[in-house]
Amino acid sequence: MDVKTVGVVGAGQMGNGIAHVFALAGYEVTLNDISADALDRALGIIGKNLDRQVSREKITEAEKQAALGRISTTTVLTDLGSSDLIIEAATERETVKTAIFEDLQPHLKPTTILTSNTSSISITRLASRTDRPEKFMGFHFMNPVPVMQLVELIRGIATDEETYHSLLKVVESLGKTAASAEDFPAFIVNRILMPMINEAVYTLYEGVGSVRSIDESMKLGANHPMGPLELADFIGLDTCLAIMNVLHEGLADTKYRPCPLLTKYVEAGWLGRKTNRGFYDYRGETPVPTR
Ligand code: CAA
Repeated sequence: MDVKTVGVVGAGQMGNGIAHVFALAGYEVTLNDISADALDRALGIIGKNLDRQVSREKITEAEKQAALGRISTTTVLTDLGSSDLIIEAATERETVKTAIFEDLQPHLKPTTILTSNTSSISITRLASRTDRPEKFMGFHFMNPVPVMQLVELIRGIATDEETYHSLLKVVESLGKTAASAEDFPAFIVNRILMPMINEAVYTLYEGVGSVRSIDESMKLGANHPMGPLELADFIGLDTCLAIMNVLHEGLADTKYRPCPLLTKYVEAGWLGRKTNRGFYDYRGETPVPTR
């Protein structure tokens, strides 16, 4: 299957990054969201991130303009019907994702590949609810999408080889590197990363360190580009908690229990950067630790 046109569902943090890298690599992209405001915001963010790449001489102004010219937006899901590849990057709720695939599939070509950017939901289960489980895969990008090199490719139990090889070629064409993961809770990156973040929250909860000392320790002591609490705020504390719950329930092992302090931050609506408050308060000039 030769992929030329891509439909991206969801214009949030991941969806706009995915649209950005596909457009820059020469694909025609249709970006869909139920909110017209979210689409406007996404185009603004894509423009700013492309500007950043121009100013660092990663791309030229002409390449930026060409990429922007390849992105169209729509609030009508079925406008994505003619795409060769669909990437669902909507809210991380199974009912939402299933409904999107159900609404979309009567409008798709029989050859269209369906993918989800889910960070933890079973690919086999999502695939089984569609009319093409053999053409369904997990296609997991990392945040920030334009910068991070890795894409996880997750085959469901029914995914065929042709679909897998088509997506491998697509990842190469983006200049990124694919890692194959089996379809078990949270795949590879989040299976390892989230328990580390959760452990950092326990370290804070038990008073072993402060927000600052925990982050400094992992930046300077383990050479991580961000401390684990700063990274949790960057990913979103609701996402971190949802992934810990998937690990806890899916693997039925108490070592994955979410830290009560993580739950409390989410209950407070302190979800990290996106709400301007999490382990840090982002409302001022510089981030200030909240504990
Ligand atoms: N779009 C385009 N370019 C961007 C960008 C964006 N959104 N964000 C940063 N950049 C570019 C910058 O222009 C800069 O480019 P150069 O190297 O050419 O100078 C480079 O990225 C570094 O950016 P900055 O200098 O602004 O900042 P930094 O050095 O502090 O790096 C970071 C920022 C890349 C985010 C770095 O802190 C980092 O790698 N953090 C860890 C990110 C991470 O772990 N992501 C995975 C999260 S897990 C996940 O995504 C899976 C999931 O399901 C939850």
